[in-house]
Amino acid sequence: MSKICTIIGARPQFIKAGPLSVALREKFVEIMIHTGQHYDSGMSQRFFDELHLPEPDYNLGVGSGSHGAQTAAMLKLLEEVYVKEKPDAVIVYGDTNSTLAGALAAVKLHIPVAHVEAGLRSFNREMPEEINRLLTDHISRWLFTPSETSKKNLKLEGITDNVHIVGDIMLDSVLKYSEKAEKNSSIMLDLDIEKNEFYLATIHRAENTDDKIRLKTIFQVFSDLDKKVILPLHPRTKNRMEEYSLKVSDNIKIIEPAGYLDMLHLMQCSKSVLTDSGGIQKEAYYLGTPCITLRKETEWTETVDAGWNTVTNGDKSIILSVAERSDEIRLLPHPDLYGNGNSAAEIVNILSSEIS
Ligand code: UD1
Repeated sequence: MSKICTIIGARPQFIKAGPLSVALREKFVEIMIHTGQHYDSGMSQRFFDELHLPEPDYNLGVGSGSHGAQTAAMLKLLEEVYVKEKPDAVIVYGDTNSTLAGALAAVKLHIPVAHVEAGLRSFNREMPEEINRLLTDHISRWLFTPSETSKKNLKLEGITDNVHIVGDIMLDSVLKYSEKAEKNSSIMLDLDIEKNEFYLATIHRAENTDDKIRLKTIFQVFSDLDKKVILPLHPRTKNRMEEYSLKVSDNIKIIEPAGYLDMLHLMQCSKSVLTDSGGIQKEAYYLGTPCITLRKETEWTETVDAGWNTVTNGDKSIILSVAERSDEIRLLPHPDLYGNGNSAAEIVNILSSEIS
């Protein structure tokens, strides 16, 4: 059997690797490599347990650091593992520093790379993620994109070979786990909240967290919403709030980072979601919950075109009016924007026909 190394490191990658790992192991030997970018139990191990992910064969324990230091440490250690394991291909997901390091270390050793979630663009090169995905796309052999738009983005950059529209791998996970989340999660009881009587918010992007005034303004808008805001706090945001001595009003309930099932259930039950995450914009859509994206732009433009997602750079009147229209938005058509939840099988079919 041919051997494939899967590179994961940050929370969304554990969710994406879940369904692909199961399908991959039917045709290949998979070596799972965790860079250690996320290391807190609530950001990492909890997802392995909930998604029944195999324990990583390697955990490189790279941890936090500046972009250069973190990526460089991963590159060095990944190269050593690749040299030892001699994989036939490497799979990377999304747009984190682990993605770029996994791809770059591989191509330098002439190991072909498969990029899952290829072709996404915000067209904002100040975002570290935009640089990571651009570079990864340009050095990958297989580009697995979620939509026609992402395929077009690649074409505009001259990438046309081996581009496959396979839908969104996160939908595979949502379909597999949403019922379980509804049945098994006790988060609503634990937090003593009722369906449709709260908003769910997440904030972690550097552009929002690393600017004190901006973070304060976002929290002010959350305070002005008509219902309570549940805010699972990302460690980056927590650190910044401590640095800025930022306190929040009673309308915001801060909780620990939520696990996958609890997060799905909170999305299922919230009136609207407010977020700067990429993954949550799509998950909210799949679960039929309107979303407000607190950024200048989004890569997931189809959700905006469909009317379910509103992008605003923190404008209070827009946020309040969209939040108010949540029931109306739920009546909009809800087409399959990113496939039908069969991405893992499609990716494995393509890889197994090309790697012998
Ligand atoms: C990373 C990704 C981002 C992704 C996000 C998902 C990059 C450039 N960014 O951002 O695209 O959306 O993951 O969460 O790769 N920290 C902890 N414990 C942890 C992990 C992080 O305390 O387990 C703290 C550290 O102080 C660290 C900070 O959070 O410095 C930021 O972590 P890092 O992995 O660098 O980036 P994220 O903000 O999580």
